[in-house]
Amino acid sequence: MKTLIVYISYHHGNTEKIAKAMGEVLESELRDPESTKPESVSEYDLIGFASGNYFGKFDKRLVSFIDSLPRGICKPAFIFSTHGGESYKQAHEELKKRLGEKGLNVVGEWHCKAFDTFGPLKLMGGINKGRPNEADVQDAKRFAEGLRSK
Ligand SMILES: Cc1cc2nc3c(=O)[nH]c(=O)nc-3n(C[C@H](O)[C@H](O)[C@H](O)COP(=O)(O)O)c2cc1C
Repeated sequence: MKTLIVYISYHHGNTEKIAKAMGEVLESELRDPESTKPESVSEYDLIGFASGNYFGKFDKRLVSFIDSLPRGICKPAFIFSTHGGESYKQAHEELKKRLGEKGLNVVGEWHCKAFDTFGPLKLMGGINKGRPNEADVQDAKRFAEGLRSK
């Protein structure tokens, strides 16, 4: 199965850690949106989209990339995010809607809390130190195994 994970991870590499773990299980190609040709996405059997949560949303570059995809790709997809706070659901719903508009069928989603030193959090040394931790990585790998068997 040919798998691609397109992701952005710039704060602490939290999402990248998870992308690598899932990528190992799925033997995925890992790319950033800016170096991925939108037309190339339909060459894959399964496509993952991921980023940290920034101001309540997936990264703008990832969203723009999805908007640039041709319509009618009709492939299974999955999404994941890492976030400092409690909320991730709205961002996931928005992304799933956008992917659905392109014909991509979201068959799984995953998220976890992760190290966050944005803004004033830096003054207190950040929150969710050490995350994604080993348990998060193992959970992400189990999720990826589940995708493989779908
Ligand atoms: C500019 C910025 C804005 C953020 N906004 C939110 C937010 O609205 N909600 C949240 O839960 N976490 C927020 N975070 C924390 C990140 O989602 C969290 O640290 C994430 O794991 C970063 O992923 P990355 O290391 O892959 O970039 C923000 C972080 C940054 C740098």
